[in-house]
Amino acid sequence: MPEQGPDPALIAALSEALERDPGSVPLRLHLAALLLPTDASTALEHYAAALEGEPANVDALRGAAQAAAASGLEQRAEGYRRLLQALGEAAQPKDLPASPGRPANEAGDAREAHSGPAEERRERVPSHREQPATPWWEAVEPGLTLSAVGGMEEVKRKINLAFLAPLRSPALREAYGKSLRGGLLLYGPPGCGKTFLARAVAGELGARFLVIGLQDVLDLWLGESERRLHDIFESARRHAPCVLFFDELDAMGQKRSQLRGSAGRNVINQLLAELDGFSPNQGVFVMGATNHPWDVDVALLRPGRFDRLALVLPPDTAAREVILAYHLRDRPLAQVDLRALARATEGLSGADLARLCEAAAELAIERALATDKVGPIDVDDLEQARLQTRPSTRGWFETARNFALFANQGGLYDDLLAYMRERRLL
Ligand SMILES: Nc1ncnc2c1ncn2[C@@H]1O[C@H](COP(=O)(O)OP(=O)(O)OP(=O)(O)O)[C@@H](O)[C@H]1O
Ligand SMILES: [Mg+2]
Repeated sequence: MPEQGPDPALIAALSEALERDPGSVPLRLHLAALLLPTDASTALEHYAAALEGEPANVDALRGAAQAAAASGLEQRAEGYRRLLQALGEAAQPKDLPASPGRPANEAGDAREAHSGPAEERRERVPSHREQPATPWWEAVEPGLTLSAVGGMEEVKRKINLAFLAPLRSPALREAYGKSLRGGLLLYGPPGCGKTFLARAVAGELGARFLVIGLQDVLDLWLGESERRLHDIFESARRHAPCVLFFDELDAMGQKRSQLRGSAGRNVINQLLAELDGFSPNQGVFVMGATNHPWDVDVALLRPGRFDRLALVLPPDTAAREVILAYHLRDRPLAQVDLRALARATEGLSGADLARLCEAAAELAIERALATDKVGPIDVDDLEQARLQTRPSTRGWFETARNFALFANQGGLYDDLLAYMRERRLL
């Protein structure tokens, strides 16, 4: 039997009452609930309007999640669910599937599961409105410093100028004041150490490391994301010194076009306002990372914002040796010439090298199982693993090529062009 619609007379009466009193949230929620089973999209409009008045209204959020899901707007439904979760709505009704509440940098952590320092202490920092911990950012205090980062001399120099020297010297901060404002945007092919480097900077500063996935901030709806961003910056100020790290900054540009209305624009505007409101004396250092700097909203690259670009390239020979040693440090290893291996692995990223070490270890394990004797990883394992490992950065350079050649305003990509020319990648 088809679902019985709500009484039209009741709907008309409620609609009329709402017209007289458009600000009445209870009235609107009542009407939305009646409409939900038969006209989810109109119900959603009412829930959205109610949330505009009361963004943290749990009933409205719950209804909006259901209405959005019933209208086929799964991403939007997920946004509401995350808000609900953020508001500590533990008891979820059966028909509202629980959101996994992914932390912002989970993807990064998954990548680093075998490669990054696993002993980092993680800790959630509550927002200043004493709400439950937000799922999209967290503070990390890595026991990691720049000495663990192989190579990258030019990038380290930029970081020293932008962060380390000013933080260590109040006199420098005082003297150069405004010119020290602004953030550093790391860009380059995947797996070459952008996130690793940012963590090391935090370690170097003895500062907390706050990772923010814009993607998650943007999934929120109706003004709540702007507020959330503001909370994050406020919290960063209270936890200074700290490094505020926007991983995958380009996600914002991409997401913006997917969002209806002005929500994405508002979030960017909020971010711009927060960045502009910073003074270097506050001890908050803003860094970003992206594989696609050309997708980053240009407003974010203006002076005082992410105005310094640093290219993070695949590691050179010396860096590869350091990276190999790092990833083999806890594994039984025969006498091997890591320098020779480093020389033979030109073009591999840090992540590729981590994978190579993993593969070599698997070969040694296989042998141990077959022979019943536990032996170390030897030259042959490493050589075989090397032959199996393809550089993962080629595709990136192919894409980057066109942007570097044809969208190089203000010499933005000069470093990249020089590198590509040198390696005959152009
Ligand atoms: N220069 C380096 N020195 C030491 N280790 C490195 C270096 N570069 C990369 N690595 C290793 O490779 C891993 C992957 O690097 P990371 O996740 O920082 O890359 P990324 O540039 O952020 O990649 P993506 O663009 O995919 O986010 C790191 O966890 C680290 O172990
Ligand atoms: Mg990264």
